[in-house]
Amino acid sequence: MIPSTTARLILETARIEEVVCEFLTLRRSGANLTALCPFHHEKTPSFSVSPVRNTFKCFGCGKGGNAAKFLMEHEGYNFPEALRWLARKYNIEIQETASTPEQLAAQQAEESLFIVNDFAQKFFQSHLPGTGLDYLKSRGFTEATIQKFGLGFAPDGWDGLTKAATQAGFKLEILQRLGLTTAAGKDFFRNRVIFPINNLGGKVIAFAGRTINNETIQQSNNPKYLNSPESPIYHKSQTLYGVHLAKRAIRQQNVCILVEGYTDLIALHQAGIENVVASAGTALTTEQLLLIRRFTPNLHILYDGDPAGIGAALRGLDLALELDLNVKVTPLPHPDDPDSFLRRVGIADFKECLATNAKDFIAFKAGILLNDTANDPVKKANAVHGIVESIARVSDPIKRSFFIKACALLVGLSEDVLTAETNKAMQALEKKKQPLVIVERPSALSLPKATSSPLETHLTRLLLEHGADIYDQKENITVAEHILGSIEDVLEHFEGPLCHRICRESIELVLAKKPVTPQHFIAHEDLAVSGFVADLMHESAIEPDPHWAQNGFLRGSDPAKPDYLDDIAKTVSRFKLRVVSQLCEQNLKHIKDTPPGDEQAMLRLLKVHEKLNLMRKELAESLGLVKF
Ligand code: UTP
Ligand code: MN
Repeated sequence: MIPSTTARLILETARIEEVVCEFLTLRRSGANLTALCPFHHEKTPSFSVSPVRNTFKCFGCGKGGNAAKFLMEHEGYNFPEALRWLARKYNIEIQETASTPEQLAAQQAEESLFIVNDFAQKFFQSHLPGTGLDYLKSRGFTEATIQKFGLGFAPDGWDGLTKAATQAGFKLEILQRLGLTTAAGKDFFRNRVIFPINNLGGKVIAFAGRTINNETIQQSNNPKYLNSPESPIYHKSQTLYGVHLAKRAIRQQNVCILVEGYTDLIALHQAGIENVVASAGTALTTEQLLLIRRFTPNLHILYDGDPAGIGAALRGLDLALELDLNVKVTPLPHPDDPDSFLRRVGIADFKECLATNAKDFIAFKAGILLNDTANDPVKKANAVHGIVESIARVSDPIKRSFFIKACALLVGLSEDVLTAETNKAMQALEKKKQPLVIVERPSALSLPKATSSPLETHLTRLLLEHGADIYDQKENITVAEHILGSIEDVLEHFEGPLCHRICRESIELVLAKKPVTPQHFIAHEDLAVSGFVADLMHESAIEPDPHWAQNGFLRGSDPAKPDYLDDIAKTVSRFKLRVVSQLCEQNLKHIKDTPPGDEQAMLRLLKVHEKLNLMRKELAESLGLVKF
């Protein structure tokens, strides 16, 4: 856990423009900087960075927030990952709140795993010249490609790496935990070309080693690929090979190509196709698909044309449909895989094939299932059931009905029959369904259900925008003190939890004699708060809410004061008036509901009514609204 004080320090230190410019080319435009938005397709820049507010905002797609939010959106990090990235950039030490010594030890252990992997990767790289390099070159990989993927070679000794690492001071136990050294103290990878496997942030978490003797592949004691075992930093089911190099291209092209093999991915990269990840020999998992979905909803599966490849594609398809990904499949001619196919036909034909042979999942699955049913009605029925079961996984009803239409055409059945079958399959799935226990992005990103009213939003905006200004010179009170002092007694009547929370925390700031500023909240450790305030500030900088202009709230009536002071006084009164009116109505209802005999209760309620009514009248009069 990152302590919230550290989170705040990180977010206050991080400069949005310094973070964004590591990924985008920024142009100055007045006080702000602009760029083409990385989150949606556009030709003229609507992505704006405000150094003053320390936020970004895209006026095209609406994404916005602080530096951490940018990294989450752009790099697919979760919040702690984004904070760690920023902490590294700004040399801020994170003393994680490892409350128990065990947790602390675990953390240090994890860090040492990364360090040892790093050592191993450099060791393998340094042993590449010779056998390893010759092999990779014979497969057509260039020096640049080999460098880009950090490829290496594990020499044919018994303990080359183990010896080097222990001599460098690393514990044998750590090497064994990573699977680099066997229980017997021997090197795990021997005489193999090494592919480092990286996490999203690019750190090496595991390795794969390919044999260089193709003749012995068939022997069970010499598998083509050896992979690191699971470790505290390597979870196979959550890993996609190449994702750290692909994420930007995936987002830019808004589609992710999925291949099976390490060499497939590398070959595609070398040919300039970078929006590609590899499932690397595992059956595709939900976690892997969620990782893809961080960057795009569009998935293009490119699997080998052999039965194993097709089977894998079919399984992946159903999972992807469940996660609302739009899936296309391009089956490659057997026995090609993407690497060999690309080498055989060249990049132009390869791209052409992707463009023309991509099938949506109905066509793909139908093609396979219906392939050799000939005119056997039983086989055909089974095939249709198979397709319907996939359609049933699509949660969007509109998409589902399009798929049913397409399927009806393909198999020559009526849509009604297929719809009924789909519904049945959906019910069956529902019963089987296990709750998805997946840690996705922090829930803070989803907006709270109750939204703030325009009135309280405006009040909050005034509070933040002018909080530190002087409201009353004689009394020497700030705008924040005035607003918060006036609404303190009705604080619990906010509709939106975010405005409520900001006001509550502002009171704490005032009590601690700290200024109430947008910066404080933009650096908030809760992303829901920082995002809300970032949006609020950008809105106020760009367009005054027409609703407020209409109602005369933006123009002040006292020429001696700046406009906003008048706006503040009125907004506070308005807010209180609304609360008092609501309380009045509630009270009237209570009066109605009071049984006729209960005179004491009635008397009390009537007194409350009188008091509320008086307040209402005063407030309304002060606003010049109504004469009672
Ligand atoms: P392939 O057998 O298609 O290998 O396995 P490949 O990627 O085309 O490799 P080359 O071109 O022959 O060198 C596809 C993927 O399945 C995993 C690997 O991730 C491989 O890239 N695999 C395969 C294993 O993990 N172990 C194996 O023994 C074989
Ligand atoms: Mn291959």
